[in-house]
Amino acid sequence: MSKVTAAITGVQGYLPETILTNHDLAKFVDTSDEWILTRTGISERRIMKDGASSDMAAEAVKGLLAKKGIDPLEIDLVIVATVTPDHPFPSTANIVCDKVGMTNAWGYDLIAACSGFIYALQTGAKFIESGTHKKVLVIGVDKMSSIIDYQDRTTCVIFGDGAGVVLLEPNNENLGVMDAILRSDGSGRKYLIQPAGGSANPATIETVENRDHYVKQEGKTVFKFAVTNMAEVSAEIMEKNNLTSEDVDWLVPHQANLRIIDATAERMGLSKDKVMINIQKYGNTTAGTLPLCLWDWEKQLKKGDNIILSAFGGGFTWGAVYLKWAYNS
Ligand code: UT7
Repeated sequence: MSKVTAAITGVQGYLPETILTNHDLAKFVDTSDEWILTRTGISERRIMKDGASSDMAAEAVKGLLAKKGIDPLEIDLVIVATVTPDHPFPSTANIVCDKVGMTNAWGYDLIAACSGFIYALQTGAKFIESGTHKKVLVIGVDKMSSIIDYQDRTTCVIFGDGAGVVLLEPNNENLGVMDAILRSDGSGRKYLIQPAGGSANPATIETVENRDHYVKQEGKTVFKFAVTNMAEVSAEIMEKNNLTSEDVDWLVPHQANLRIIDATAERMGLSKDKVMINIQKYGNTTAGTLPLCLWDWEKQLKKGDNIILSAFGGGFTWGAVYLKWAYNS
């Protein structure tokens, strides 16, 4: 009997309409289009004016189910990777299920910052491989504008809002998620953190006045760890699966900084035409970046393509997933 693997059988994204350009940002913080573009590769990002993470996720899910002709009642499980849940509880997954009418599904949220989507993808794959679940939605969504300090030029230029979702289904052709290497190092937590609002530092007037509910990042330190670890883990998953640079069809890198993406592709020996890059138009949407890339490139992907997804983020968390694409669009 052939082994059951978990294949991505559909992908969809959602981006809010409002565009915040580098020029817009330069009107209220001391920055420039030139600085942002050369240091990060970002030109503009999307901002959700009204609504929550669940609204973006629900729109992406509705689009996916309509495209695939699937009834919401067929979905078994919904995993939402996010650092910007609607509330600490109930989970955003609960809310998305309600908004879409997925009343037969159970679901939960998963926090792994920018690595959230690969953590959730690997988790969702296990439910399919075990044979207990037939249709699993893995969502990466963040409304970063809700936790970004638009007075802090070192962070506000980087992040944007967006959502992406993939459908996982059983596959008997050895396509889908082949392998994953996932890592974490909590000693890096101080370098990229939302300090207040959790049990360690509940909300007080002081935490609000200190702007401690916003993302704080020591950019240079995070950059150094990200460059090294994202490149290393991507090379490691290739070696572990006997993949040469010729064998890899696509790198789907977390979109945090173009320089980190370039370093990862170089370490893997990949030419630029094999690397998905949309950071210029969406910025860093945290858990949203990887499914949004897959959505943007879906029509170019072919059945059997070897794809490496790779990410690094707060925690620290990082890792890579090797998957074989399961369909032609
Ligand atoms: O996705 C989660 C993981 N996060 C990441 O991977 C982010 C990793 N870090 C980075 O991408 C980069 O470190 C940043 C884009 C955040 C910053 O770029 P950098 O090249 O590391 O700049 P820097 O922090 O070394 O700052 C260089 C200079 C500083 O000025 P001085 O001290 O040299 O006078 C900063 O104050 O650039 C200044 N600066 C800015 N200038 C104009 C910092 N932010 C800005 C800005 N506009 N927005």
